[in-house]
Amino acid sequence: MVDNHGRNINYLRISITDRCNLRCRYCMPYTGVEKLEHFSILNLEEIARLVRIAAQAGIRKVRLTGGEHLVRKNVAQLIRYIRDIEEIDDISLTTNGTLFGSMAEELKDAGLDRINFSLDSMVADKFQYITRVGRLDTVMSAIDKALRLELHPVKINTVLIRGFNDDEILDFAAMAYERPLHVRFIEFMPIGDLQFWDRGNIISSQETKDIISGRYRLLDAKKIKGSGPARYFNLEGGQGSIGFISPMSNHFCSACNRIRMTAEGKLRGCLYDKREVDLKQAMENGASDEQLRQMFLETISSKPDKHHMNNGWGADNRRKMYQIGG
Ligand code: 5AD
Ligand code: SF4
Repeated sequence: MVDNHGRNINYLRISITDRCNLRCRYCMPYTGVEKLEHFSILNLEEIARLVRIAAQAGIRKVRLTGGEHLVRKNVAQLIRYIRDIEEIDDISLTTNGTLFGSMAEELKDAGLDRINFSLDSMVADKFQYITRVGRLDTVMSAIDKALRLELHPVKINTVLIRGFNDDEILDFAAMAYERPLHVRFIEFMPIGDLQFWDRGNIISSQETKDIISGRYRLLDAKKIKGSGPARYFNLEGGQGSIGFISPMSNHFCSACNRIRMTAEGKLRGCLYDKREVDLKQAMENGASDEQLRQMFLETISSKPDKHHMNNGWGADNRRKMYQIGG
């Protein structure tokens, strides 16, 4: 399905819960997080039905996100439901890695194709500081597990924040050099817990690239499965790759191929567009598959041509990242 700006929209990201077992400082406050009630979120069968309908509207790839989706029960069952939808050829997860290690085999058996980990520091104390409650060793062993199970390409998402992890840029690059991991550096966005965000703390992709180029020779990489808006480079002689996701410095929106669904069944064309379509309510009102398919098509065709994060959308975006799903 091609949208009004000529982009082929074939990727649906589904947040299956707003809950998370970490409390990353830029994402959530430590306490007082309002949680969705159980009755207000889609059940697994409703999600599966919507994915089937989305597939009829041209969706081919599905990613489950959160919050942290693995805090929800029966994620493997949901993956099995989605696996049974013939048109869907790629199922992936974005996880903070804390629970993945113990569930990895089950998820892979259910049909998981690949996985992205969020990891902002490889120094135990800093990891604990930024996540407030996380443990680095659990996440590192979950990453090992994903490699052992060959859930390739295994990607690492690293949000760079000046004064916090800019001193680790070369360590992350070294990890991509030594292991078949794809490390993506993400520019810090004004979304989430804005008390922690500061424009001065954004590290641009160009700055990061310059630092890495001082140590490694960067070669343009072939397209990596599911690469979306990231720009990838191989490190000469290395195993993995690095990528840059530059929402702040570079409008990657022209390459955007995705729509998003929240745990409550609200469909959005863009992370940063407040317009939403309420699929859950439509289902409760007895909408037919065809009516729901039309709602997908409308969201796709009205996707904005680009986001407006740099000019003040941050302040009045009602939903946080953990409510929309990264
Ligand atoms: N800026 C950039 N990335 C963010 N994420 C969450 N909040 C922000 C932000 N303000 C990232 C997480 C995770 C992904 C789902 O979104 O770190 O990697
Ligand atoms: Fe949880 Fe991800 Fe938010 Fe961290 S960034 S608190 S892991 S949802």
